[in-house]
Amino acid sequence: MTVMIYPPALLFILSASSCSTQQVISFQNDIDPILSEKCLRCHKPPDGIGYIRTGLDMETYDTLMKGTIFGTVIVPGDSKRSVINKLTEGRAGELMKMPHGDANKLTMDEIKLLQLWVNQGALNN
Ligand code: HEC
Repeated sequence: MTVMIYPPALLFILSASSCSTQQVISFQNDIDPILSEKCLRCHKPPDGIGYIRTGLDMETYDTLMKGTIFGTVIVPGDSKRSVINKLTEGRAGELMKMPHGDANKLTMDEIKLLQLWVNQGALNN
């Protein structure tokens, strides 16, 4: 019989995931496609309305992490305090809910992915 010895980090991840399985979210594969499909239209220079109003450009990881002219919208590791999660989860109210308009609504899965990705450190992975 072989005995599996788990490294401490893995054990931590296993025990930290209470109910759902803890998949590692990838910016390239999971997050960027959501932003491109549902946010980029309004959040890219020169004429996206969200870009014009706030300076938030979602074309690349770096511009996203730069945030708005008022400050960053992502606190790595802390979706509770991240503006991007507050807005997509509707925690800032219906008026501010992102994306604006009904055409690009996020699914529950997409909202969850954004939350997990931020909680996992908002990595450029
Ligand atoms: C139809 C256009 C539109 C779409 C689509 C859109 N936004 Fe926005 N966004 C705006 C506008 C306009 C603002 C400026 C603030 C306002 O008017 O509510 C904004 C502002 C923001 C801000 C900055 C809020 C602040 O004041 O700090 C964040 C974060 C944001 N959007 C995230 C998103 C995300 C994430 C998506 C995709 C899921 C998205 N937006 C899709 C139009 C849009």
